[in-house]
Amino acid sequence: QIEYVQAREVFDSRGNPTVEVEICCANCRPGRAIVPSGASTGKFEAVELRDEDPDRFDGLGVTRAVENVRREIADALIGQDAADQRAIDDRLLELDGTENKSRLGANAILGASLAAAYASAEAQQQSPVERFAEIWSEYLESQTGVEPIQRARTSLLAKSMSLPLPMVNMISGGLHAGRNLDFQDFLILPVGATSYRQAFEWIVTIYRRLGQILNKTGHEGTLIGDEGGYGPKLSCNSEAVKYVVGAIEAAGLTPGDDVAIGLDVASTHFYDAESNTYHLNATGEEALSADDVINMLERWVDTYPIVSIEDGLAEDDWEGWKKLTERLGHRVQLIGDDLFVTNRQRLQQGISSQTANSVLVKLNQIGTLTETLETLRMAIDHGYWPVVSARSGETEDTTIADLVVATGAGQLKVGSVGRSERLAKYNQLLRLEELLADRAPYHGGGIFSSLQR
Ligand code: PGA
Ligand code: ZN
Repeated sequence: QIEYVQAREVFDSRGNPTVEVEICCANCRPGRAIVPSGASTGKFEAVELRDEDPDRFDGLGVTRAVENVRREIADALIGQDAADQRAIDDRLLELDGTENKSRLGANAILGASLAAAYASAEAQQQSPVERFAEIWSEYLESQTGVEPIQRARTSLLAKSMSLPLPMVNMISGGLHAGRNLDFQDFLILPVGATSYRQAFEWIVTIYRRLGQILNKTGHEGTLIGDEGGYGPKLSCNSEAVKYVVGAIEAAGLTPGDDVAIGLDVASTHFYDAESNTYHLNATGEEALSADDVINMLERWVDTYPIVSIEDGLAEDDWEGWKKLTERLGHRVQLIGDDLFVTNRQRLQQGISSQTANSVLVKLNQIGTLTETLETLRMAIDHGYWPVVSARSGETEDTTIADLVVATGAGQLKVGSVGRSERLAKYNQLLRLEELLADRAPYHGGGIFSSLQR
């Protein structure tokens, strides 16, 4: 039984205010969660409630969301059973009453939803990963009349726990690094590693080599973006990929077989909906049509060892997305982030129209733990790879590391290895690998066995 609900304004990795919630069951230590925050947000995300008071943190304060937790949410949750996650989340949705969580704020709601999960873990003396695994299996069992999770493409993603393949940012552009490059993330996926620790050691080595290479070539190999990746001023997007490939080689590894490349194009943020065109400012190219962008991405896939492309087209460009999927969906993972915003209705639209083949899963895009699990389940059921993801504004909260292992979702995208709010998650995975051993195997790049590379 929930006895106490508290909230406060704390700060994220960009120094922006965010919501922390603590929930306590009788005679137990508090469960605590801190909500992350995006910069390149999709317009269909649940609403993050900010104070809009220009005299405090340029309007970014979250005291209204904090007050909503302390009053309305506390009143609604005190006396409830913290172990019934679905009932807690249903209550939060009902209390808010809006489609996009704009009344209480998705930041207030998610903080409470997660803190309740942590409170119940405390009450049952479970570790967070055990508690999330229990919530996940209870959720799956409650789904009668749904086929068991077992589809060809995602067959390795099942009910059991597993360590994820990390997808790690090396170079940042877009809104995360002053738009010095148009594409937002140049990532690596250590597909050939046989354990999470080995994968992570490769990543750290490549990151170090990349810094040295950037310094040697006269770029800033020390300045980093919001997610800890390097933020050099390069002449074009493809130069970034070349440096990353060079760093993989400098680490003594084989690009493609050992370590593949991923992109988060985040193209919503250089898309003009009115003219239906894409504008690559950093490289000075003229307006591109969706077809032009698809042709460019296909050339990239032909040239570089790319296995994953996120938001190759914009959140509204369903038509372009469908063509992109027809052209490249059998060769690479095509992740919808701004496109799906972890929202079941939008993912359903993607599934029905055979658009994309993967979904980014961010808790705060949708706003409760249960809804996040619903989206995850829908993705796996329909052969869409889920990628659990952090936001560009993060904290020491490690929920996503525990959640990705607990659900066996298979992939995690947290940013780079140069900032502690990211390392909090990566280090938690190192602990979980040791603690869970055979209970949470590492499938690594094996999840991509159906791609024609
Ligand atoms: P965001 O970026 O958290 O700023 O939205 C992450 C992403 O686009 O994947
Ligand atoms: Zn993205």
